[in-house]
Amino acid sequence: MRRLSRSPVIAIVGASGAVGVELLQCLERRRFPVSALRLFASPRSAGRKLAFAGRELPIETLGEASFAGVDLALFSAGSDVARRFAPLAVAAGAVVIDNSSAFRRDAAVPLVVPEINGARIAEHRGIIANPNCVAITAALPLWPIHRVNPIARIVLASYQAASGAGAQAVAELLDATRAYLDGREQPPRVLLHPAAFNLFSHDTAIDPATGYNVEETKVMAELRKIFAAPDLRICATCVRVPVLRAHSAAITIECTRPMPPEAARALLAVAPGIRVVDDAERNYFPMPKDASGQDDILVGRIRRDLSDDSFRSLALFVSGDQLLKGAALNAVQIAEQLL
Ligand SMILES: NC(=O)c1ccc[n+]([C@@H]2O[C@H](COP(=O)([O-])OP(=O)(O)OC[C@H]3O[C@@H](n4cnc5c(N)ncnc54)[C@H](OP(=O)(O)O)[C@@H]3O)[C@@H](O)[C@H]2O)c1
Repeated sequence: MRRLSRSPVIAIVGASGAVGVELLQCLERRRFPVSALRLFASPRSAGRKLAFAGRELPIETLGEASFAGVDLALFSAGSDVARRFAPLAVAAGAVVIDNSSAFRRDAAVPLVVPEINGARIAEHRGIIANPNCVAITAALPLWPIHRVNPIARIVLASYQAASGAGAQAVAELLDATRAYLDGREQPPRVLLHPAAFNLFSHDTAIDPATGYNVEETKVMAELRKIFAAPDLRICATCVRVPVLRAHSAAITIECTRPMPPEAARALLAVAPGIRVVDDAERNYFPMPKDASGQDDILVGRIRRDLSDDSFRSLALFVSGDQLLKGAALNAVQIAEQLL
């Protein structure tokens, strides 16, 4: 495994995007040792500057020679950019942590959530993949249960925020909401369907062979890879909701042996990266408004699945900031393990 020098030169590819700006903030907030930081995006962002550690850094246009002298390249610019430029970054001597789906299912590329399978980082050959944001948000609270009582089956329905589709989708939800309240028609630009006061099946293409969309297919395949459980049975339904930030999911799991909710709650209460929010008296459970800007994934509504009389199944509800633990924070945590 290639390690990083104690104070690496870092490049952020996609710095102007929804994940990119969070990467900058995570590096600063966690005092990641940085000897120099270079920001890259498309020609659309040329001339813009972003603040980092009290300085204004220019955004440069990404090019084939951008990685000379770079030790660590944090990519968040989509799969096409990653497929073209990540190999160039590796050839120039950098370690790449990629937020896109380009390499996630490549058997030679570790797909890492540090709290779960951080040991896999050591296997990298230049590229480490950051998992899909729903996969991370579900995997982290399920892992402490899976470790002691293997999960055989997962049924999951997501409630995904607009920012999951990038910075332009955030602007679209805000504009569409204003237009709706003003009684104006505003056709969608980035998202497939009207975003305001509506929700819809995730706007990625449906695979005619399975009936699942691309997002659902990613979530199912990536959960199996993160848990190293190729036979894990999963059914995912991914839905876009009119929330600005933080993805939620209703999850039902079937364990191998009986699993009392109290035992699951106790495991989750001490697990890293998770906060149990499960106050039945106040009817207070995980919400995107509480998860936004937080590092922890919130988990609650932990209860028996009454449709399974073997006592092996639980239902729970999670909410997590998909721009942080679902993307930027997870990538920076991986980078911390490379130091
Ligand atoms: N949003 C999330 O919650 C989330 C979570 C997990 C993973 N991801 C993944 O992270 C990646 C970025 O997502 P995002 O939500 O941050 O998208 P975004 O807000 O649309 O940002 C995309 C970034 O990529 C840059 N870019 C686009 N084309 C480029 C090119 N040809 N050359 C160089 N830079 C280019 C954009 O630059 P310009 O501003 O100049 O166009 C922008 O900085 C995607 O792969 C996404 O699937 C996103």
